[in-house]
Amino acid sequence: MMTKTKIAGMGFYVPENVITNKDLQKYMDTSDEWIQERTGIVERRYVKKHEETTSIMGAKAARKALDFAGVKKEDVDFIIFATLSPDYFFPGSGVLMQRELGITGTEIPALDIRNQCSGFVYGLEVADQFIKTGKYKNILLVGAEYQSMGMDFSTKGRNVSVIFGDGAGAVLLQPTTEEGKGILTTHIHSDGSNAEVLSFINPGSHGGYHLGKEHFGYDDSMPIGNGFITEKMYKEDMLFPQMDGQTVFKTAVRKFPEVIMEALGTCGYTPQDLNLLIPHQANLRISQFIQKMMRLRDDQVFNNIQKYGNTTAASIPIAMTEAWEAGKIKEGDLVCLAAFGSGFTWGSALIRF
Ligand code: ACO
Repeated sequence: MMTKTKIAGMGFYVPENVITNKDLQKYMDTSDEWIQERTGIVERRYVKKHEETTSIMGAKAARKALDFAGVKKEDVDFIIFATLSPDYFFPGSGVLMQRELGITGTEIPALDIRNQCSGFVYGLEVADQFIKTGKYKNILLVGAEYQSMGMDFSTKGRNVSVIFGDGAGAVLLQPTTEEGKGILTTHIHSDGSNAEVLSFINPGSHGGYHLGKEHFGYDDSMPIGNGFITEKMYKEDMLFPQMDGQTVFKTAVRKFPEVIMEALGTCGYTPQDLNLLIPHQANLRISQFIQKMMRLRDDQVFNNIQKYGNTTAASIPIAMTEAWEAGKIKEGDLVCLAAFGSGFTWGSALIRF
């Protein structure tokens, strides 16, 4: 009998601190109308500064996923942690979450993955391989982001900062031999041609190689490295994420349907067979565009970006858990998860619950 991977538990955590579009007007020239019209976002959650981190939120979501599955933390045999906003440059947030959960004694591996908005789907494919080979039996896969810590809240950074939010989502993955159930297929892709279109490049070890060293103001009085950050980067606001929104939009609305169709086609399904599509919550306009292109009904697509903004690696597990809690995913349902993000990277997973 073939072993597949099932989602045995799921959970999410978002900080209590609700930030409305109007709240953002205190820091930048923007409006509720502009943000809602372009992104669908009404409010998002931000971490209360100094009180939580990416790994701590990850641990909070992980505890819920463990409770849901009825699995003791000591029985987790592999951690996969997806984020673009890690607590530290190194070590990764996986080991910090392991410490927070208090499961260091079992010395299980913790893998950090850096695939931005596609991080959760990338993690799912990685976990699925380990479950199918029989190597691990209780994998904790977490997507978590503390993005408000590093964004530019001035008018200059408004095209990015109004979109992203903080939060965490987690799943506990186990093997199953139940006929027809579990993860049916996963597909992940990348194309680095447009790597900087949506990026956070400083601090980094690039030394100006990709974009020209003059631009960054390195001190070359020493022939060897002189630190990741220069005065010019500080002065010219280069220490923030950047995005060419229109290129992201155009590529996303092409790649999302492509990778969703790839998953459906692999299993002999059509969009009409889907009970629920859970797209990465990039932007409500992107989700609506995909829905229209794929001729899906409103009840076939789940969106919650209105409440949380774009929480990057956390968005799919947060949305999936909310959809489950709202009764929008039932036993036996065919659910597709799909992601697109910085890199560009994209992916999909088709699951029979
Ligand atoms: N408030 C008010 N005005 C703003 C804001 C803001 N927050 N941000 C930008 N503007 C202004 C700009 O300064 C510009 O003004 P100008 O015409 O006077 O120069 C004007 O609005 C239009 O700016 P554009 O950047 O051209 O805005 P665009 O119409 O492309 O919309 C948006 C921006 C919403 C980001 C759009 O490009 C988009 O939907 N992109 C998709 C990408 C996306 O959503 N990325 C986030 C997720 S990434 C991911 O998860 C894959």
